[in-house]
Amino acid sequence: MDKSEQDALKKAAGIEAAKLVDNDMIAGLGTGSTVKFFVDELGRRVQEEGLHFTGVTTSNRTKAQAESFGIKIVDIDDVSHIDITVDGADEVDQNFNGIKGGGAALLWEKIVATNSDRIVWIVDESKVVDTIGRFPLPVEVIPFGVQHVITRFKNRGYDPTLRVDAEGTPIHTDEKNFIVDLHMNRIDHPQDLAEDLITTVGVVEHGLFLNMVNTVIVGDPRGPRVLTNSNK
Ligand code: A5P
Repeated sequence: MDKSEQDALKKAAGIEAAKLVDNDMIAGLGTGSTVKFFVDELGRRVQEEGLHFTGVTTSNRTKAQAESFGIKIVDIDDVSHIDITVDGADEVDQNFNGIKGGGAALLWEKIVATNSDRIVWIVDESKVVDTIGRFPLPVEVIPFGVQHVITRFKNRGYDPTLRVDAEGTPIHTDEKNFIVDLHMNRIDHPQDLAEDLITTVGVVEHGLFLNMVNTVIVGDPRGPRVLTNSNK
């Protein structure tokens, strides 16, 4: 699949998900290239259809995009709950276990997701996999002592790399932390790995989102396909 075909599938999923946002809702807005299409469509609905809702964003990038359309964005601590959150994902399996954080926004994404009544992911079909882990698993780590955390991950066989930009400088998350990507290739026991990561001192959060999502909208050449998680 080339990039323009993939973008068309992402856009179709984003437009489909935008139909789920109604007047007066509090909606969580995810991060990434697929969510960008979703927010574009919400912006169109706000401007052309008079849709009015309040947004809570998962990154400063999404906040800037949403506000450029006149969408009202508030701080997560200014709302008591979130009705629905629409976000992207890097991989998702048939048990609705997924990897997120390719765009380095996993911490705020997980906080917003945890406080949402309904979670919807929008993905193109290449993200639906049998076993997660081919996509490097992002882990958010505080800068102090990061090399020691990386050494621990190496010793456990997780094949870690510190994420850097084109100049070789470590990238910072919106919380000014670092991202360490784990090149596991396949993750057969995601619950055990999640437990191991979150109990490692210095780790703030990881990109394993296990059985959190309610609905996945898959961009498919024949039209968006909806997967419903019956275990939620
Ligand atoms: C951001 O940190 C991520 O969790 C994204 O939601 C995820 O990487 C999907 O991004 P794309 O839609 O750009 O593939």
